[in-house]
Amino acid sequence: MGGHTSIDEAALRLRSAKTVTILTGAGVSAESGVPTFRDALHGLWSQFRPEDLATPEAFRRQPDVVWQWYQARHHAVLACLPNAAHHAVAALERHLSVNLITQNVDGLHRRAGSNDPIELHGNLLRLRCVAHGHPAEWPATDTELPPACDICGSLLRPDVVWFGEGLPSDALRRAYRATERCDLFLSVGTSNIVEPAASLPWAVAQRGTPVLIINLSMEGQEWGPLIGSLLGAAGEVLPELFRRAFPEQ
Ligand code: OAD
Repeated sequence: MGGHTSIDEAALRLRSAKTVTILTGAGVSAESGVPTFRDALHGLWSQFRPEDLATPEAFRRQPDVVWQWYQARHHAVLACLPNAAHHAVAALERHLSVNLITQNVDGLHRRAGSNDPIELHGNLLRLRCVAHGHPAEWPATDTELPPACDICGSLLRPDVVWFGEGLPSDALRRAYRATERCDLFLSVGTSNIVEPAASLPWAVAQRGTPVLIINLSMEGQEWGPLIGSLLGAAGEVLPELFRRAFPEQ
């Protein structure tokens, strides 16, 4: 299904698949109004670059600044709601086996009801301590400094992947397994620039598994004849595609 694919052709593929793996990126949360990193750098934060706020070095140097930035992002994400794309992906689990891999840290797939998404870049709604990775909850009220871990006393940080850090190995292992074991791979709302998203669709297509990219624009994504594409907004295309694949739902 190379090049532009019709939604009916894609629906047929989906209907005959037993397992689908879906990779999502920031585009899937765009319709929820989740501020991108750059959009969020306004007002008080306009003097900063992402590298000043989202690196382990920045946290060591200025834990209060990084903490307050993530506190603001946490509030912003909680104020957003899952959109039609998140709900469609969650509902698809009623029809076939779905492996969901997301690069988003906003937790919206979980809030929409997706079962155990593979969060490649972590989740902003969780905290962990810097020393041992002990999990922790966000404090009920804002604080100036990052709180200390109840177990070991080291500082708490958001459970997200920062620039210069490796991806969580368990999530990565699960993501590779999910891409090896699927009959159809959908890549939705991601620019496919950051690894492993950058190479996954290609690797899957070369094994002969159908791959479909769903994005507002295919600019910069010249995948060649092995990979199909559906142009459009995730919140419109996914519900329509899934409705056509499973009209009896
Ligand atoms: P990007 O911001 O790089 O790309 C978003 C993609 O979504 C673009 O290709 C848009 O065309 C597309 N898009 C926007 N709105 C859409 C909509 N309504 N429906 C469908 N597509 C839409 O985001 P990601 O690919 O997720 O990493 O970026 C991956 C990673 O790069 C992020 O997780 C982050 C960043 O550096 C870390 O923070 C580690």
